[in-house]
Amino acid sequence: MPDSVLKICNIEKIYGEGDTAVKALQNINFTVKRGEFILIVGSSGSGKSTLLNMIGLLDRPTKGNILVDGIDTSTLDDNHLSSFRNSKLGFIFQFSNLLSDLTVLENVLLPRKIQGTMGGAIEEARILLKTVGLETQMSKFANKVSGGQAQRVAITRALINKPTIVLADEPTGNLDSISAETTVHLLKSLNRKLNQTFIIVTHDRPQFGEVDKIITIKDGRIVEGELETSMI
Ligand SMILES: Nc1ncnc2c1ncn2[C@@H]1O[C@H](COP(=O)(O)OP(=O)(O)OP(=O)(O)O)[C@@H](O)[C@H]1O
Ligand SMILES: [Mg+2]
Repeated sequence: MPDSVLKICNIEKIYGEGDTAVKALQNINFTVKRGEFILIVGSSGSGKSTLLNMIGLLDRPTKGNILVDGIDTSTLDDNHLSSFRNSKLGFIFQFSNLLSDLTVLENVLLPRKIQGTMGGAIEEARILLKTVGLETQMSKFANKVSGGQAQRVAITRALINKPTIVLADEPTGNLDSISAETTVHLLKSLNRKLNQTFIIVTHDRPQFGEVDKIITIKDGRIVEGELETSMI
């Protein structure tokens, strides 16, 4: 297994074409190691979500290459890309996006169902749900839990396939300050416990305290000198 789980090589993203084209990212280069906890920060419209969507293989760059676990993802066709994404990447969004007519446990199991690897999944889901403090909520329907609990269900769902990289776009953006603090604490402790890489977009950099690296984006570029290894 390569030590670097993600290599971003000179990517550029242009939305649209002609007069209406928007250059959302340019000249983006960086490498991420296994187990790192990384923040992507920058003002609104700077390109954070675009970058996260590229890393998450939800959209392809206009130029450049993205290597995940040593595989150049530009060589994968759309079918291979979606199964690769499902096995290597876990996603957490600002809104937990749970299916309300399924229980907490069923929501967590969805990625395993899609992957067709249900063997042992229920026990693994139970263990993870216990880790995030939701062992008593497993049989509840997803629309009957609180916002903070729903986000913890979404975190568990992102982890159930044991992804190499967990990606989160403003995971605390829709939470009150106490739930946000709990969520940050949980993400950091899961990162240490599972040795999985976490890459998190946030507008609230101080909320996350010490991290391994901060990538600051301004007008679609990494701000010079601020791709830093900070504070450890
Ligand atoms: N699907 C799209 N089509 C056209 N332009 C887009 C699209 N998505 C994003 N953009 C543009 O690309 C730029 C970067 O947007 P992006 O969503 O990545 O910013 P962001 O840093 O995540 O902002 P925010 O903090 O507000 O979420 C912006 O100028 C935005 O208008
Ligand atoms: Mg965004």
